[in-house]
Amino acid sequence: MRRSFIREILDYIKQDTISFAGGLPNADLFPTKKLEEASNVIMNDNSYLQYSSSNGYDKLRQSIANIYTNDGFKTSKENILITSGSQQALDLISRYYSNKSITIEKPSYLGAMNVFKLNNMNIDAINMNSYNYSLDIFDKSIKKTKLAYLIPDFQNPTGYTYSKEQREFIINSILKNNAVLIEDSPYSELYFEKKFKNISSSIPNNSYHLGSFSKVLAPGLRVGYIRASKELIEPLIAYKEAMDLHTNNISQYILYEYLKNNNEFENHKNTIRKVYKKKSQIFQSYLDEILPEFIYTKPKGGMFIYGRLNHINTSVLINNCIKKGVVFVPGNEFYLNSNNQNEIRFNFTHTSSKDVYKGLHIIKKEIQKIKQCNTL
Ligand SMILES: Cc1ncc(COP(=O)(O)O)c(C=O)c1O
Repeated sequence: MRRSFIREILDYIKQDTISFAGGLPNADLFPTKKLEEASNVIMNDNSYLQYSSSNGYDKLRQSIANIYTNDGFKTSKENILITSGSQQALDLISRYYSNKSITIEKPSYLGAMNVFKLNNMNIDAINMNSYNYSLDIFDKSIKKTKLAYLIPDFQNPTGYTYSKEQREFIINSILKNNAVLIEDSPYSELYFEKKFKNISSSIPNNSYHLGSFSKVLAPGLRVGYIRASKELIEPLIAYKEAMDLHTNNISQYILYEYLKNNNEFENHKNTIRKVYKKKSQIFQSYLDEILPEFIYTKPKGGMFIYGRLNHINTSVLINNCIKKGVVFVPGNEFYLNSNNQNEIRFNFTHTSSKDVYKGLHIIKKEIQKIKQCNTL
């Protein structure tokens, strides 16, 4: 099994490295003061220090269920399982389906591919995230696998967002084939213009909807959740119990306290959306100015800009750029068979505009050097 390139790179990044690599939220936006206030409240009652339920803190489950219901997706707390980040949700579900087959997007989130492989799943990766996708291929694949893993909103790595037509096709295909969808949605709230309707609400008995507080609040809390029917949630609880008994209580209690003030969370999300939209626009304008040969799709939200540099092996390019203090993720990392040469994923949320400008110029220089070598 490959270690995640991104996590390895995090180990090597120095103070002055310009990083377009990780899916890191912008630390300036963490609601530090409000989370501190929430922590002070929970310290008044020591019940968070005790063991608790494997399903998660009941009051937090209810708060999350309310968020779904207010959004038009009727949910009760019995439909919610709290997890240690959505990474654990992926692990729990794939343990339950170990040795089974699964349809995934190509390219896809490396952390998910790794847990599917660890659980010995038979993976069918198909093209779903570019504008030349074929829905018939999805239909054919799901007919065999009966299980799909998709990231329909602002995908990691491509930033791609499913069209209405694509969502409707998937709903019909899942129902027709009596299949199950794992809809991973850590970025869905980070939209620039409008929110997209999740697929799971149209197939509530055939879906796991995965959410996380990592991208909208703070990843260090390590709190995520699965929204599914009681029948689908029930068998996962035994796996959760076996893995870690329950998610860290301190984080769960702080989150519950923070979410009590619904306006605060809404205002916070609005701020992030505005800042990320601006950062994405700045990144794109610098890309167009400095690397016009980089062909990319404009994201409608999320954290990533993905594209390709024809005739440049981006795995070679990254090795040269690391030495010059700039990092990004070569597309190769997001494919099962590592056969993609020219693609790059840039994160635009984390780095200052000044460093984006500087970093892209360094990459440009390294591209020119590779081109010169190629023509010698
Ligand atoms: C698509 C996707 N799913 C899941 C995760 C895991 O997030 P967390 O465990 O922090 O909730 C990530 C993290 O980058 C991701 O990009």
